[in-house]
Amino acid sequence: MTAREYVYCDYAAGSPARPEVLEVFHQYATQQYSNPGAHHPLAYVAKKHLWELHERMGKVIGADPREIIFTSGGTESDILALRGVMERATAPRNELVISAIEHHAVLLEAQRMETAGTKVHYVPVKPDGVIDLAALRKAVSERTALVSVMYANNETGVIQPVKEIGEIAHAGGAKFHCDAVQAFWKLPLQPKEFGADLMSLAGAKFGGPKGTGLLYNEMTNRISPVIVGGPQEWGYRAGTEDMSGMAALAKAMELADAERAKIWPRVEKIRDAMEERILAGLGDHVRINGKGAPRLPNISNISFLEIEGQALAIELGEQGFCVGLGSACAPGETDPSHVLAAMGLSWEDAIGCIRISFGPDIAEAQANRLADLCVANYKHLKGIG
Ligand SMILES: Cc1ncc(COP(=O)(O)O)c(C=O)c1O
Repeated sequence: MTAREYVYCDYAAGSPARPEVLEVFHQYATQQYSNPGAHHPLAYVAKKHLWELHERMGKVIGADPREIIFTSGGTESDILALRGVMERATAPRNELVISAIEHHAVLLEAQRMETAGTKVHYVPVKPDGVIDLAALRKAVSERTALVSVMYANNETGVIQPVKEIGEIAHAGGAKFHCDAVQAFWKLPLQPKEFGADLMSLAGAKFGGPKGTGLLYNEMTNRISPVIVGGPQEWGYRAGTEDMSGMAALAKAMELADAERAKIWPRVEKIRDAMEERILAGLGDHVRINGKGAPRLPNISNISFLEIEGQALAIELGEQGFCVGLGSACAPGETDPSHVLAAMGLSWEDAIGCIRISFGPDIAEAQANRLADLCVANYKHLKGIG
């Protein structure tokens, strides 16, 4: 089977790069290849383009061009945000606060800092997957340098109250980093509006090429670079600029921003109908994780009780549907997802999860078929069909 013959339901893991985006990538790679740091007429043109590309990326999220740091994706942006702020933090304001459901890029970097001696607070979430704001208030103090909480979770799609989180961080005198990798495209994101000082995006999640992303960093916030060397990206990320990647990312951001309202309400209806169909077929045998909370329109995280999500995903794959697993339900791993564990799910319930994440191309009939297959496969795997 080729990619076209599968129904791809794993957009939270990656989306196809759009033709318009690849076209500008190619155009820049073959025609605008001059190093903008050089000193000749073509380099001056490249320098002008460099500014314009930052301007375009910034415009989509309401930021100044100098607030955009191009990166290789979500992981690099998250690590630059955390390390960038924490390396400059000095006692007594040198503690880090993150939520218990952050992506591994944030979580493991925080754990690395903890091992090196930084005090890290892990704020719990409630059973619906939303951060416990009372616990956040307790964790933030005059010792907090940075609060890092994601906009929407990559496993459940649960949206966090980012405005309140920013207010709590700022009230304590701390900076607020928001990993908005999953939220962009589905939600309009203006970091200045919701109070983020730093915000991570990844192009591969919204039709850009893999290996592209950005960190928004509020103009007055000085951070330490992670990649050192030349003065590129305002001194925050050394190395000859990937102008093709930037042009592609700018284009993908503009397209994603322009079409948001047209795409996602339809997808949300299809997602909700699929969940209803599965619930109607299996009742108490399934649990939709985070269903009571505000969620992204395309993600559905479902625990199929007393079976392994991986077994179900394999069956669905053979039947032509690509679905995801909760990140730590990955082959070879025995721990349940830290996100579902933080929401209070037992090991057994977490291990029975699959993550379905639709894209704009999903059709109602395909989602119905997927729901019916989930029901039939579950009954078969459990031996109750
Ligand atoms: C919320 C979140 N943050 C960070 C990342 C890492 O992004 P990348 O794979 O672009 O490095 C992901 C990727 O799935 C994500 O979902």
